[in-house]
Amino acid sequence: TVLVVDFGAQYAQLIARRVREARVYSEIVPSTMPVAEILARKPAAVILSGGPSSVYEPGAPGLDRSLFEAGVPVFGMCYGFQLMATALGGTVDNTGAREYGRTALAVAKPGSTLFEGTPAEQTVWMSHGDACSAAPEGFTVTASTDLVPVAAFENDELRLYGVQYHPEVLHTVHGQQILEHFLYRGAGLTPTWTTENVVEEQVALIRAQVGTRRAICGLSGGVDSAVAAALVHKAIGDRLTCVYVDHGLMRKGETEQVEKDFVAATGVRLKVVDASERFLAALAGVSDPEQKRKIIGREFIRVFEQAQAEIVAEAPGDEPVEFLVQGTLYPDVVESGGGTGTANIKSHHNVGGLPDDLQFELVEPLRKLFKDEVRMVGQELGLPEEIVHRQPFPGPGLGIRIVGEVTRERLDLLREADAIAREELTAAGLDRDIWQCPVVLLADVRSVGVQGDGRTYGHPIVLRPVSSEDAMTADWSRLPYDVLARISTRITNEVKDVNRVVLDVTSKPPGTIEWE
Ligand code: XMP
Repeated sequence: TVLVVDFGAQYAQLIARRVREARVYSEIVPSTMPVAEILARKPAAVILSGGPSSVYEPGAPGLDRSLFEAGVPVFGMCYGFQLMATALGGTVDNTGAREYGRTALAVAKPGSTLFEGTPAEQTVWMSHGDACSAAPEGFTVTASTDLVPVAAFENDELRLYGVQYHPEVLHTVHGQQILEHFLYRGAGLTPTWTTENVVEEQVALIRAQVGTRRAICGLSGGVDSAVAAALVHKAIGDRLTCVYVDHGLMRKGETEQVEKDFVAATGVRLKVVDASERFLAALAGVSDPEQKRKIIGREFIRVFEQAQAEIVAEAPGDEPVEFLVQGTLYPDVVESGGGTGTANIKSHHNVGGLPDDLQFELVEPLRKLFKDEVRMVGQELGLPEEIVHRQPFPGPGLGIRIVGEVTRERLDLLREADAIAREELTAAGLDRDIWQCPVVLLADVRSVGVQGDGRTYGHPIVLRPVSSEDAMTADWSRLPYDVLARISTRITNEVKDVNRVVLDVTSKPPGTIEWE
């Protein structure tokens, strides 16, 4: 395992993902973890992430130099690089010389361990105020920039490496190559973290955990729950029952997709509960977003518990149903504190927010995986493309894409508009280019239009196409005008009561991806 020490959450997650992309298993640990504890985990290598602090700030996270004396290969990036420099006797100055964004890096030692095979001048992504002016004794300076004399250094004998910039971001052109050079050449690791191994390992773990008992899994139609269910099904077969709650807030074709495609691909035992009446009744008269979310979460639990009781009643003699499968992902674990002491940024709830006091033991086979890895595992398990590469869809469904009260009529209308947008995006081959494209109905807004010979007074539909790597930040997608035009024409022609289509051009932050 490569341990990524977290001096700034976003950087650390991205680094961990890049290490996995290099087929080496990585985990994130907080910067507050004592070095002794880090070493006790016997890491194959350690990476120190960048972070927002200056090494000179009072209270800035530090690092005991014993990490560098343990014979473990270490790679410091940005803040991690400066920590490494100061801990080992180099000089880091608060020069006021700030570098931010794309920067030209001059490589002084083209054949060095990190820079082997990369150009003498390369574009890297910088983000720092302090700068290293002298490398620690015994280290070779391998790169510099106009402002920073020591932008990278290495000591092959001690297997210690550092760069001032961020190799993990895409703007650093040879970033992945340099990271791989550290992993393979510097630390001598071999790329063995493969999807096949993940599946094998998880199946064994699930069997060990569940034994001969039974499990249930709430399917949302999303990729995470589908892959989690498929993994558990592979491990325990028909002792898993999947429950799909149709709350009436699903998109067009969604229920059918779960009923047909998913079952056909996995052979899983499925229980479909039609609960749309119940959800709509509970949502009647409610337009506050948070209240909607709470109501949907609450109703979901009730329906789910009922379904669980029915499963037990249907086969009372069988082993007890003691496990609940959840599609919790690694970023959820890290962001929720994850038992590693990282800051609690947000508490995630899966399966529409099941409460802690549910009498189930959790099975979370995706706890170690990033989203792209989940998709790969899904592929490995033979799930259809439409499920594996599906856009993320929120648990509360279309209920939080109607700004205003949720009614059956409005849902039907939004469902049509959404289906058109999805159809056109797929036809244009754009599914892989965008992260997701929520389609939002502004039910409380009306505007004047003209159609045929008559005046209309209808609702606007908002298109919210975004590109993102992890949904934590996002940018609005620059969709081709002709695709936007086709979507707009079709929606205004084909969807009753909609006379306007507008495009959301807000990044996240400040806007969230969903409107509610
Ligand atoms: P926001 O709107 O916070 O969304 O930028 C970030 C990502 O999370 C999805 N999302 C949800 N997913 N239950 C879910 O399972 C929810 O309650 C929920 N709310 C937002 C959203 O679609 C986007 O991918």
